[in-house]
Amino acid sequence: QVDELKEVESIVPSYACQRRTTLENHNTVFTDALSLLAENAELSDEDGRGVAFRRAAAVLKALHSPVTDLLQLRGLPCLGGHSLRVIKDVLENGASSEVECTKQSERFKALKVLTGIFGVGAKTAERWIREGIHSLPQLQDSAHTLNRAQQAGLEHYDDLNQPVTKAEGDAIGEIVEKAVMSVLPGAQITLIGGFRRGKLTGHDVDFLITHPEEGREVGLMPKVVSWLESKGFLLYQKTTRNSYLESKDGPARPSSNMDRFERCFSIFKLPEDAKEGTKQTETLTEETPEDTGRLTTPSLVRDEGSESTKRANLKPWRAVRVDLVVSPISQFAFALLGWTGSKLFERELRRWAGHEKAMSLSSHALYDNTQSKYLRASSEEEIFAHLGLEYIPPSERNA
Ligand code: GTP
Ligand code: MN
Ligand code: MN
Repeated sequence: QVDELKEVESIVPSYACQRRTTLENHNTVFTDALSLLAENAELSDEDGRGVAFRRAAAVLKALHSPVTDLLQLRGLPCLGGHSLRVIKDVLENGASSEVECTKQSERFKALKVLTGIFGVGAKTAERWIREGIHSLPQLQDSAHTLNRAQQAGLEHYDDLNQPVTKAEGDAIGEIVEKAVMSVLPGAQITLIGGFRRGKLTGHDVDFLITHPEEGREVGLMPKVVSWLESKGFLLYQKTTRNSYLESKDGPARPSSNMDRFERCFSIFKLPEDAKEGTKQTETLTEETPEDTGRLTTPSLVRDEGSESTKRANLKPWRAVRVDLVVSPISQFAFALLGWTGSKLFERELRRWAGHEKAMSLSSHALYDNTQSKYLRASSEEEIFAHLGLEYIPPSERNA
């Protein structure tokens, strides 16, 4: 028995950062169900439950074949009673009644629609729902003043809720490259986030920028943003300062997961012809079919193009969410690891570091609490080695 358990555990260890999780998922029917419950929990301020469902889903993502019988799950980690009930329901009935019920609930639908607006989090959506606002027209008719991010989010709602393709990501990459090279030749740009993990689509495009000479990257972000703005590539941007360097006693022990890099949340205006070379035919022929139960809000908000232009899909550009992060070269490996994801993989890395190694990992540094010192690293491989973990390449961090 014990040997059997050990064997299973060696195949599926309990921390996601100990496992190789590719994009090839043999159990989507289960992981989709669990992910939806995770999302619902997260939107309902129940993060603990959310993580539990995410961990359960991640275990199933790591399996090499489809689950066809509950007995196959014996000895697997992270599968709590609730998750097992969901899996059982799917196995026996083809769907989980709890998932179906959640999907159809007015509350969940409203939370999805409202948090689908860039700049609107679960808390805000919750507040609006309590006031009876369940849809975008209701929000627009309400007297609520939206902040700048939310205004932009509402204005570009359809574009921002359409997945970004790799081709579009590459086109954005070329623009970012041009911007960075114009203001600081010699700087380096790395694609991070989901696209670095090999995903074919994403909700945004993420880039990490650094310079091989420490310090040369200081003040880079405002210059890049100005360049982009002057060329008309930005529909929205909010840059936040790096406060990490500002503490006078040197780097403080990384205590929170809050990011302290210079970073920019933005919405790009991507010209259609900018992705000509790499364009997939699907972006051309997209006809906006009846969305699968998702709300459609064509022409909700007045846009530069006329209604007919929009409907004919002739708008010569599209809005794309882009995240830019600037890191000094000394922290580059930590930033790269911390921003490549997946979110669960990152969370598990930090949990492993804290619980198993008495270390604190952030996107800036790794601190060893036992030795009371920082552990340096100039590559992701070195960080995994410090943590006593086998190196997992980005394409296998899709937990
Ligand atoms: P898609 O964009 O949907 O393809 O997924 P993604 O994996 O790229 O997610 P996202 O762009 O939201 O985040 C990319 C990575 O950056 C993830 O690993 C996140 O954990 C990380 N990340 C996002 N926001 C923050 C932040 O504020 N601070 C830090 N340190 N990391 C963040
Ligand atoms: Mn991303
Ligand atoms: Mn992002």
